[in-house]
Amino acid sequence: MRPGFLWGAATAAYQIEGAVAEGGRSPSIWDTFSHTPGMVRDGDTGDVATDHYHRWREDVDTIAELGLDAYRFSVSWPRVQPGGKGPLNAEGVAFYDRLVDALLERGVAPVVTLYHWDLPQELEDAGGWPVRDTAERFAEYAGAVGEVLGDRVHTWTTLNEPWVSAFVGHAEGRHAPGRTDPAAALAAAHHLNLGHGLAGRALRAVVADTAQLSVTLNLHVGRGAEAGAFDAVRRLDALGNRIFLGPMLGDGYPADLRQDTSGITDWSFVRDGDEQAIAVPIDVLGVNYYTYMLVRSRTAEAATDDTPSPWVGCADLEIPATPPPHTEMGWTVDPSGMEELLLGLHADHPGLPLMITENGAAFADTVDADGRVRDADRIAYLEGHVGAVRRAIDAGVDVRGYFVWSLLDNFEWAHGYSKRFGIVHVDYATGRRTWKDSARWYRDLLRNDRRGR
Ligand code: NOJ
Repeated sequence: MRPGFLWGAATAAYQIEGAVAEGGRSPSIWDTFSHTPGMVRDGDTGDVATDHYHRWREDVDTIAELGLDAYRFSVSWPRVQPGGKGPLNAEGVAFYDRLVDALLERGVAPVVTLYHWDLPQELEDAGGWPVRDTAERFAEYAGAVGEVLGDRVHTWTTLNEPWVSAFVGHAEGRHAPGRTDPAAALAAAHHLNLGHGLAGRALRAVVADTAQLSVTLNLHVGRGAEAGAFDAVRRLDALGNRIFLGPMLGDGYPADLRQDTSGITDWSFVRDGDEQAIAVPIDVLGVNYYTYMLVRSRTAEAATDDTPSPWVGCADLEIPATPPPHTEMGWTVDPSGMEELLLGLHADHPGLPLMITENGAAFADTVDADGRVRDADRIAYLEGHVGAVRRAIDAGVDVRGYFVWSLLDNFEWAHGYSKRFGIVHVDYATGRRTWKDSARWYRDLLRNDRRGR
């Protein structure tokens, strides 16, 4: 890859830190949700997770040994600003201060996400993302964190996957806060957008001029499951992608999206000036890609199914299973979807730099008697997707980096600890870290790539 390309790995606070009641941290919606019986597989919670809060030095050593250029992590809002308002908590800030300094000492660029789903519970109690005030609180928090870390962070990412926060959290109810209200999900999507715009401005005012401003989206690659599925693919793209890309990139909310959802909301939560506020200029768009989706129109009979779905206003859409090979998540391995996504973004938004902020796979890894974790499936997955990035770059797409999800096995949300995405294995009983074969493979890939520069 070109000089300046960032090879990295990613994590998120609630998925790795643990120490939920230490250092002045207040509860987040994921503490509440994971402690609600039946919400997370096997009753798992993030209470201890990988214990990164105590083992961060060891983890930074691993990052350095892997030879990563960058490490993407998230700041826990309830840790640095308990309750979601007021002054920052010095103990919480100190944790990230040390982490950032330790990374820089090893030549690793910190890529910081400000919101990776752990909303302070107090803000949820006041209405959460469906209410406007949360966007304003988020901007205030972003500016305050920018003031303390802004001189040292390479890239600032406002939100991680706002689609998941809005629709899996508020319409499907499979993620915190566990609501099943389509109108609330659309309002949440708007206030996440607004939060991004306001936070972006607040950050710009305080961080280094060289810092990059970004946001990470999980963009959906929809393919028609049958001939003539054009409208189904369009709707998936409107509700799954353009609801964020439109206003964030300065085109406002798409007319077809407003039309598709007019039976759910009148969009009166969008005030004059909001779309301009959301369109804060970004330097790079973060893209998370794992798999593609098939989509077709539902039969009339299937359309009466009222199981909560994140695809609000799309009762006439059916999302059939995609073919093998699958990862442990049931997600089809198909790097061509990533290439298609990158080429499509480049065609639609020429000149917009992109960064793969997450890509990876869960497999049922075990530590063998000789201490090795033979995760050949993960290596094949990563190799295929890195190849897709290279092909996109060769075709002229400006891709600035690639981050493996994840550095460590961790708390996979509603799946608890049952899904292992790490290139480093974590024994949850002891906290012990073991490099998987994929970690060695990734280290060697990076070494070889640097030699070729
Ligand atoms: C997206 C999310 O950002 C991350 O938190 C999650 O663990 C991975 N995808 C895998 O599902």
